[in-house]
Amino acid sequence: MKGLILSGGKGSRLYPLTYTRAKQLVPVANKPVLFRVIETLRDAGITEIGIVVGHTGPEIREAVGGGKQFGVDISYIEQESPLGLAHAVYIARDFLGDERFVMFLGDNVIEGGIGRLIGEFRDQHYNAQIVLTPTDNPQAYGIAELTDGPERRIVRLVEKPRNPPSNLALVGIYMFDPTIHEAVRAISPSWRGELEITDAIQWLITQGHDVHPYIHRGWWIDTGKQSDMLAANAKVLEELTHKIEGYVDRDSTVDERVTVQSGAEIVNSVVRGPAIIGRNVRLVNAYIGPFTSIYHDCVIEQAEIEQSIVLENSRICDIPYRIADSLIGRDVEVTRSEFRPKALKMTLGDNSKVGIL
Ligand code: DAU
Repeated sequence: MKGLILSGGKGSRLYPLTYTRAKQLVPVANKPVLFRVIETLRDAGITEIGIVVGHTGPEIREAVGGGKQFGVDISYIEQESPLGLAHAVYIARDFLGDERFVMFLGDNVIEGGIGRLIGEFRDQHYNAQIVLTPTDNPQAYGIAELTDGPERRIVRLVEKPRNPPSNLALVGIYMFDPTIHEAVRAISPSWRGELEITDAIQWLITQGHDVHPYIHRGWWIDTGKQSDMLAANAKVLEELTHKIEGYVDRDSTVDERVTVQSGAEIVNSVVRGPAIIGRNVRLVNAYIGPFTSIYHDCVIEQAEIEQSIVLENSRICDIPYRIADSLIGRDVEVTRSEFRPKALKMTLGDNSKVGIL
């Protein structure tokens, strides 16, 4: 079985972080979401993987390369513009050949891997398998309506419905046999101008093909929005096996659910887990609270932060208030200014959000 990861698209819901970077490369618990997806496929025994890339392709190629660091073999498939998930399958035809495959959206994070899912699809003769899970926000996803009773079958699928027929969302993991290639060629673009995978799967159902619904019971997060990113970070930090590779001085308190990566230095600080402190980070007189990831080369000095993600090479120094629920980009400086007027002085990118006390 082959793997197809979708890593094109615009990432507009994560602006401003993704103006300059692929959303799939934003880290969750100090590891890019895309790396987590590749490892999930590899751990399920899939090593031949195609990645669909768009305008952020060069950055993704640079980060992932040929896949050697993950023990997989990666091919790249260029998508000229984000014309839809089914369009991505359309253009991956040569790579996929006539094999069965798993398609995984490059911004999805799922609990517990996909080994069982793949096993079930391998052992049966379904034409497709979709993964469903209950959601509180059914307007934001593809939604499935199922029959009642123990043998639940799919009645229909709708993409982001205004009046959802159920709360069962399509998780961004799909398994297909080659019949899907007929489906993606049979459908037309939706109202948003995209070839929807939901419509292609609906076509399979209408044509009488066997599409199996698998209900996922653990957590699953589509990291497309800021709040989802923080939620995914919290879940993954809870799952990590923590270890200390950096230096912690005697005046610091670091609890057991904290990872301190190599080269990090913690001086006279308190870190409460679950949390991760990245490579070469320096914490001095700082407090890092639960559910926080500080990526490599940051400095946090005389400041307190919790439930947040800080990307690489940022400095947060001498701040009299605790920072919480925040997503802070790369090379950012948050410092106290000695100069008058005494005022908040900000240089914020487009679409930034600041909450003042
Ligand atoms: O996350 C689950 C949801 O994913 C499903 O419930 C929906 O049915 C499905 O349509 C999809 O909805 P989204 O609106 O969240 O998809 P998004 O545009 O965010 O794209 C998902 C991933 O696929 C993302 O990593 C970007 C990539 N992509 C997207 C498009 C439209 C491509 O590589 N090419 C594309 O043309």
